Amino acid sequence: MIVFATSDKGGTGRSVTCANIAYRRALGGDDVAYVDFDFGSPTAATVFELGSAVHGVTHRGVHSCLLGRTTEPARLDVWLSSESDALRRTLASAGRLCLVPGDPGGGEFPADEAVTRRCAALLLAMEQEFDVTIVDLSAGRSYAIDIALRTTALPEFENVVTRWLVFHRWTRQHLEATAALVGHERGILGVGVHWGHDADELGRRIRYVRAAVPGTGASSVAGLRAEQAEWLREVDADLTRRSGRLGLGRTSTLGTVPLDPVLQWKEQIITDEDVLKPAIANAETVTAFRDLADALTDDERWEIL
Ligand SMILES: Nc1ncnc2c1ncn2[C@@H]1O[C@H](COP(=O)(O)OP(=O)(O)OP(=O)(O)O)[C@@H](O)[C@H]1O
Ligand SMILES: [Mg+2]
Repeated sequence: MIVFATSDKGGTGRSVTCANIAYRRALGGDDVAYVDFDFGSPTAATVFELGSAVHGVTHRGVHSCLLGRTTEPARLDVWLSSESDALRRTLASAGRLCLVPGDPGGGEFPADEAVTRRCAALLLAMEQEFDVTIVDLSAGRSYAIDIALRTTALPEFENVVTRWLVFHRWTRQHLEATAALVGHERGILGVGVHWGHDADELGRRIRYVRAAVPGTGASSVAGLRAEQAEWLREVDADLTRRSGRLGLGRTSTLGTVPLDPVLQWKEQIITDEDVLKPAIANAETVTAFRDLADALTDDERWEIL
């Protein structure tokens, strides 16, 4: 399975959430690859604490591969190479977890036929080697989205399961922008149809993820005045109504990740230890990552639209 992750705005929580989903699936025994397709800013290595590759890997990253400078991009094994003791101590029952990094100083480049061909070769190789490949695309209406759509419209991908996660924060601007990223004539569906995808079929492969959503329950509003808590609940209800009207309601949403204090301060994998000793992260955050990881392959969750 190949999962493309995107968002209209930057800083939504796409990379951190995807890295945690990848981690949870690997813990469950899957071989998982995380491919950094954020051409302008390929910094996913930070989340896995792979210090040597925080800005990508020179001449051996995804850009070099798509531009024909290398046929084999680097694969960094997180269990072996991470600077995090907790990640290096991962149980042997886990599957592989590999980062395929970008290149430092890379930028966006358009999808011509040669790039599409190389992208197809890369993704088909990943699909053979890994159970789940998560492709973290650049934010906005990027060339990265265009390359992904053009490539997956090729006949070779007919039998490959591809899914899309579109990330947004829980605000009015994010809801509007996300609906447009998917539904605008130059959005994912429009560009997909241009390259030969069927709109209904592609629509069934797209689900939304709400990231870093502030809670409105008693424990989340404990430090606020009663008027503030009441106002927050009204805003939350308004956002719920808006999301439904824009087609980003509950049935099209795969999951919601709560705002977590750890992730506000540091982009990282949250291990089970982080919610136990010392209990720095919230258990609800891990539950949300686990649910999302399970939902990726839960066909019923993808058939209801
Ligand atoms: N659930 C969460 N709670 C609190 N903060 C979060 C949460 N998820 C992500 N963040 C924080 O939000 C910031 C942006 O997250 P991240 O880098 O994953 O976003 P992104 O969409 O990949 O951004 P970019 O477009 O720059 O690649 C980071 O500092 C991250 O740690
Ligand atoms: Mg990112």
